[in-house]
Amino acid sequence: MSTLPSKVTIYEVGARDGLQNEKGVISTEVKVEFIQRLVAAGLPIVEATSFVHPKWVPQLADAADVMTALGDAGRDMPVLVPNERGLDRALELGLKHIAIFGSATETFANKNLNRSLDEQFAMFEPTVTRARAAGLDVRAYVSMCFGDPWEGAVPIEQVVGVGKRLFDLGASQLSLGDTIGVGTAGHVKELIAGFVGAGMHVDDLAMHFHDTYGQALANTYSALQEGISTYDASAGGLGGCPYAKSATGNLATEDLVWMLNGLGIETGVDLDAVVQTSVWMAQHLGRPSPSAVVRALAAG
Ligand code: HMG
Ligand code: MG
Repeated sequence: MSTLPSKVTIYEVGARDGLQNEKGVISTEVKVEFIQRLVAAGLPIVEATSFVHPKWVPQLADAADVMTALGDAGRDMPVLVPNERGLDRALELGLKHIAIFGSATETFANKNLNRSLDEQFAMFEPTVTRARAAGLDVRAYVSMCFGDPWEGAVPIEQVVGVGKRLFDLGASQLSLGDTIGVGTAGHVKELIAGFVGAGMHVDDLAMHFHDTYGQALANTYSALQEGISTYDASAGGLGGCPYAKSATGNLATEDLVWMLNGLGIETGVDLDAVVQTSVWMAQHLGRPSPSAVVRALAAG
């Protein structure tokens, strides 16, 4: 146990990754209350929404309204931004944290960004340069790190090459996405070793596990052993990507906090408050949370 980090930062993506994939329309009011409840539950970073093309992700077309309703508190919450148009929209609202999102594979770059693998950098480069010049913090995601539904296995060198290139644009953190949840614990160690071998520090890496194959907690434990201390998770296990066939929910925040509490790893998160939030949100979504911890604690 002594080699595991003593503290973990949970980067909450429920309001963004969670809600981008919902079939029904969630009202702006419910989104805002969801975000406020997550902050009140002690989640230190709450990614709020996306400034992507509203036709591509209609679920988050009210991004500006959500951020306006959040007021000052929203300025410190990260939002997804794919390009300069998205950056302009974020700057107009005085936001301070954006996240770009690249793909490790050619096919997903095309499907998710309407760009080739190389072209995505031409879109991100001026976006990050302008954001940094305006004093914004930039996070970079890289998707399909463990496998791609169209291309199958993705070579580690390819993921490391794309991820490093995204980070080197001027990001403060690189989040490694298992978009379709196919990764397993040994693969996690190999990928982290690949990035460390390429000169990246574990403190600059975050893990973003989807739980499609039920591997997210095992993968988290594997990454903890490698010293990674930031994990993306979504309250109630909501999530998925509308442009990635077979992507389902993220690692549930509650499942993550339960495991970290058991390991004596500090998060500052009030587990009961997150569970209550997910139970409340499930009523708005019309279906129960897939998280085992939410189900167990809500029943108790
Ligand atoms: P495009 O159609 O190629 O855009 O889409 P374009 O650059 O050709 O511009 C066309 C028109 O769209 C223009 O308007 C632009 O102004 C407008 P016109 O001049 O024709 O009137 N436009 C915009 N409007 C509002 N906001 C914008 C914007 N950009 C252009 N930001 C684009 C390219 C990248 C915009 C599109 O492909 C897109 O929005 N993709 C986003 C898809 C998405 O959000 N996917 C889910 C998030 S990623 C994810 O979930 C994975 C992650 O969780 C990690 C993991 O799990 O691995 C992060
Ligand atoms: Mg995701």
